[in-house]
Amino acid sequence: MAKTPKWQYDEFKHCGVDFSNPAEVESYEETHRQMRDFKKETQDIVKAVGISGKDTIIDFGCGTGAFTFNAADKCRKIYAVDVSKAMLNFCKKKCRKAKIENVEFFRAGFLTYEHNAKPVDAIVTKLALHHLPDFWKLVALRRLAAMIKKGGKLYLSDIVYSFDIKNYEKSVQRWIRKTVDKGDLDFKRRIEVHIGQEFSTMDWIMEKLFETAGFKIIKRDYKEGFFANYLYHKI
Ligand SMILES: C[S@@+](CC[C@H](N)C(=O)[O-])C[C@H]1O[C@@H](n2cnc3c(N)ncnc32)[C@H](O)[C@@H]1O
Repeated sequence: MAKTPKWQYDEFKHCGVDFSNPAEVESYEETHRQMRDFKKETQDIVKAVGISGKDTIIDFGCGTGAFTFNAADKCRKIYAVDVSKAMLNFCKKKCRKAKIENVEFFRAGFLTYEHNAKPVDAIVTKLALHHLPDFWKLVALRRLAAMIKKGGKLYLSDIVYSFDIKNYEKSVQRWIRKTVDKGDLDFKRRIEVHIGQEFSTMDWIMEKLFETAGFKIIKRDYKEGFFANYLYHKI
């Protein structure tokens, strides 16, 4: 394994929400299960990317398995990668219980995972890249490009800011108010930590990062000023 230089960003230190804490992981699964439909999300990604039974995929920041767990029976193999031992253990347990055998787990991240196998057909990553500052996002995207077959796909979904910067305070407050209206105070806490301590960035910066890293856009979709889904292919 290559030695990590001292100046490299430490992606294991968990900026913002502390996903190394098992209690945080349990509560993450609980709140997200209530607010999201993991099965439907996965079906939509499988369809958008065109994933088939012969494909190999890397899921970066797999977390509790929102994608990995539901996509395992739709492809040949998934490499599930996450910096958090607690998240990986949760995902592993879920897969083991369901007798899923085509997932390999790696405690690593965008900057440290070494893909010692053939380039994959696709990389999927959801709500994870914002843990890196922008320069390191670019380093990460270049690393991802090297792990994908030529013409292979990158599906990235994350919190990306597309609101009008002149009204950023109002936009953030509106977003927080929406979650409070849904009665979800734990989610509110996570959003506040997200905005103040994590590295979500602007839409135009993200698009330039993909392009600079060697990807060509197929589709992008911005929602509510805070969410983005991107489908790119490797040139
Ligand atoms: C908000 S959760 C998203 C989990 C899952 N993808 C989902 O859709 O629910 C973010 C995940 O990214 C992981 N993570 C944080 N920094 C990372 C990095 N540099 N590389 C890979 N995963 C990272 C965290 O440990 C956590 O499991």
